[in-house]
Amino acid sequence: MTTPDTLALELTPPPGGQILHQTERATIIWGDCRDPQIIASVPDWYGLLCTDPPYGVAYNSGRSTTFTQIAGDDGSVDWPAVLGQWVGPEGTYTRGLASKRHVYVFGYEAKDLAGPMRLGGNAELVWDKAMCGMGNLEQPWGPGHERITFAVHIKQKAGRTAGDGRLSARLRKGSVLRYPRPNADGAKRHSNEKPVPLMADLIESSTVRGDLVVDPCAGSGSTGVAAVLEGRRCFLVEIDRANAEECVRRVQAAELIADRIEAA
Ligand SMILES: C[S@@+](CC[C@H](N)C(=O)[O-])C[C@H]1O[C@@H](n2cnc3c(N)ncnc32)[C@H](O)[C@@H]1O
Repeated sequence: MTTPDTLALELTPPPGGQILHQTERATIIWGDCRDPQIIASVPDWYGLLCTDPPYGVAYNSGRSTTFTQIAGDDGSVDWPAVLGQWVGPEGTYTRGLASKRHVYVFGYEAKDLAGPMRLGGNAELVWDKAMCGMGNLEQPWGPGHERITFAVHIKQKAGRTAGDGRLSARLRKGSVLRYPRPNADGAKRHSNEKPVPLMADLIESSTVRGDLVVDPCAGSGSTGVAAVLEGRRCFLVEIDRANAEECVRRVQAAELIADRIEAA
């Protein structure tokens, strides 16, 4: 007997989460990323934190009947503090994200993330969606972009104060990234699904093959799909059961492609 996904939406993940998928390329956990047991299970000194947490705006355009409200989107969660745990909290030097490696966080400003995430140099990127979203229908301007904060994680406070994290990049690019929103089929997966080519651009700019890319709020799994297709590994956590299962389906498909490319 199979369980319909619609029932799964009602489920709460167990303490410590549940591993839904684990291979050499990917780990996908159905769980709450605030759970200390899950945070402790992330391999130390990983290569990139790339995430799109809830924005604390109770997202709902008022038009959609397809999606329920995004979990953790009601403003009750201090997301910069949660992400601080994922990179390794103040006073820890070997845990979490490796020092001088990068973070990308959608929707939040560097000034709010810098303290809890121990960030040095940073830059604001703009995702140009190449279309106008719904937003407030009483205004003449609809949202056509989202902010992405790029920054360098520096574990030593002295290093941050001295300005560490001013990178000499391999290839410098403009800060506006134009990638169309996923099409109607894609949008059926998740109300906030990010385009895989956008995620691949971020991942490719900040990691090398084999690096581990972490996304604690994985949604439908675009970060993981891009990481696997780029020859990186991914560690994903998602609290909503149906979304977590979607991550598994999409990442498995990406793994098949990556296997074929490597075998060719
Ligand atoms: C903005 S969406 C991410 C969308 C994703 N970037 C994509 O392309 O599909 C944020 C996700 O975080 C998940 N989330 C909210 N609270 C969480 C928590 N405590 N632990 C893990 N995931 C959580 C939500 O269920 C939602 O799917």
